[in-house]
Amino acid sequence: MRIIKAKDYDDLSRKAANIISAQVLLKPDCVLGLATGSTPIGTYKQLIEWYNKGDLDFSETRSVNLDEYRGLTRDNDQSYYYFMYNNLFKHININMENTNVPDGTEPDSDKECSRYEKVIEAYGGVDLQLLGLGHNGHIGFNEPDKDFAQTTHCVDLTQSTIEANKRFFASIDDVPKQAYTMGIGTIMKARKILLVVSGADKAQILHDVLCGPVTPEVPASILQLHSDVIVVADEAAMAKL
Ligand code: GLP
Repeated sequence: MRIIKAKDYDDLSRKAANIISAQVLLKPDCVLGLATGSTPIGTYKQLIEWYNKGDLDFSETRSVNLDEYRGLTRDNDQSYYYFMYNNLFKHININMENTNVPDGTEPDSDKECSRYEKVIEAYGGVDLQLLGLGHNGHIGFNEPDKDFAQTTHCVDLTQSTIEANKRFFASIDDVPKQAYTMGIGTIMKARKILLVVSGADKAQILHDVLCGPVTPEVPASILQLHSDVIVVADEAAMAKL
């Protein structure tokens, strides 16, 4: 595991964008695993800036997102599809047909989850998976649990995740209670993983993820067992390391 210390959020965003850029330059038709949440927004802004300068070309790049709220349509401004479209896809030359987000409107969760796994398989797997970190150690929407979930599945969101995400919704009742997410097994199959963590409120959980025992109670702790993980965190998030 490589741990890169960033001065602050902007520095973190540039460093993470540099790593993604290198991937796209080295393998233009790479499969990027993408993430939502507030942490990657700066990374996406930086990529857009370099794209606009002519330094990056996403025309052959393929993408698979980690997760989506169950029940939200693509045009719902809280859906992760909407997030990805507005924070990245519409600003770059990625072919929208090569972008994938689980379909939150598919009511048959088994059908949607196995379809999604097949998409990733047909792509030949993920080259670089970007991850944010939930306050309880979740990655994607893999919440603390008794076991590590293997493949894409439907999850019940924990109360703390619902609380954390309510700021984006009109009221807490509007926050979806379930999501479709890649499993821990799906994430661990990515050839390279880039975890981005920012802010003092993540310091304790980042410590537990990197220095604590590997346990499904802290889902991201499994990353200790992956052979190619880069963590880019700012000073505030690294305060307890
Ligand atoms: C959501 C997403 C996660 C993300 C997490 C942390 O729950 N499903 O993929 O990592 O939020 O988000 P933030 O970066 O806003 O702290």
